[in-house]
Amino acid sequence: MAILVTGGAGFIGSHTCVALTQAGYEVIIVDNYYNSSPKSLARICELCGKDIPLYECDIRDRAGLDKIFKENKIEAVIHFAGLKAVGESCQKPIEYYDNNIGGTLTLCDVMRHNNCKNIVFSSSATVYGMHNVSPLKETMPAGGTTNPYGTTKYMIEIILEDIVKSDSDWNVTLLRYFNPIGAHKSGRIGENPNGIPNNLMPYITQVAIGKLPELSVFGDDYDTHDGTGVRDYIHVVDLAEGHVKALNNILEGKKGVQIFNLGTGHGYSVLDIVKAFEQASGRKVPYKIAPRRPGDIATCYSDPTKAKEVLGWEAKRGLEEMCEDSWRWQSMNPNGFED
Ligand code: NAD
Ligand code: UD1
Repeated sequence: MAILVTGGAGFIGSHTCVALTQAGYEVIIVDNYYNSSPKSLARICELCGKDIPLYECDIRDRAGLDKIFKENKIEAVIHFAGLKAVGESCQKPIEYYDNNIGGTLTLCDVMRHNNCKNIVFSSSATVYGMHNVSPLKETMPAGGTTNPYGTTKYMIEIILEDIVKSDSDWNVTLLRYFNPIGAHKSGRIGENPNGIPNNLMPYITQVAIGKLPELSVFGDDYDTHDGTGVRDYIHVVDLAEGHVKALNNILEGKKGVQIFNLGTGHGYSVLDIVKAFEQASGRKVPYKIAPRRPGDIATCYSDPTKAKEVLGWEAKRGLEEMCEDSWRWQSMNPNGFED
């Protein structure tokens, strides 16, 4: 029996494929390489010490997906494939709804026809919207998302919940990630953003390596300890291990819908991150204070208690390690997988 990982060549998927293989699972990837490349797959295989089969296929391609299920015995799906840039989603809502929602519907339909009804889905802290107060708990109302990307995550959560209501054979785990950073210790896989990064850590690493001149800190007048935005940064390898625990939990028996925050429970400001990164890397990160970024909130961090109690999972890696590992990846691969 195998685990199908959609989007397995991407940032979080690649780390999860390594963690799954280490845990003894047989992994099969489906990815259309829209935001990744065969070079990422080669590195995954290197870290796993064996060939990991990858089907180059779009998850909206029903026949292509069906073939994967027919050729393999798939026990569960971990579903990462999707588009994830918040700003771009405002410019291209049709593409985002088509890929994220259309892709998930096709995937679930093909799963149903092949009698595979176990799925772990990549959701996001963004589904808590603007109004819940941190620490965020799974019992708080979701919704009030502010951009098409976030709305796709919220809508997919509802779709998957409705599928379980219609057919109790399904087991659905919704994992709400906070802010994944860091990279595999080897420095062989990591985040490989296209163009100028939108997220904080890849922007910082590119400033540190000299590809970008300085960081813009978006706002220093928030109601936080130093005025800059506070987030819950989580090491991507901790996140990957959370998927293994979530999968174990589903495969142990009937679960229905379960929702878990995957975060550390600690909030760090933008300037905390700059300082920690400078210490870990020994590089200066020049920055300037810039206006607030539209759609940002002051503070967002998790209450990760439920994942600890139910899954036996908690984040183990601290901020120093996250910064060291982000820097190792960037400095060993200044141009990402192109090196
Ligand atoms: P990523 O872009 O690195 O990985 C996504 C992978 O999916 C890529 O390899 C891409 O080629 C593939 N893909 C996209 N559309 C596809 C399609 N239609 N068919 C087949 N493959 C497709 O992104 P990531 O950071 O690894 O994120 C993985 C998931 O986690 C995404 O769903 C994302 O929305 C979610 N998530 C990410 C973050 C984050 O900060 N990185 C936070 C919360 C949630
Ligand atoms: C972003 C997404 C969110 C997604 C999350 C996890 C937005 C608006 N939201 O959240 O949907 O779930 O990533 O991937 O993009 N910052 C700077 N300068 C920069 C970049 C960021 O000061 O150049 C600040 C931001 O204002 C924020 C913090 O750094 O306070 C983190 O930003 P970012 O990495 O983009 O993540 P989020 O905004 O939390």
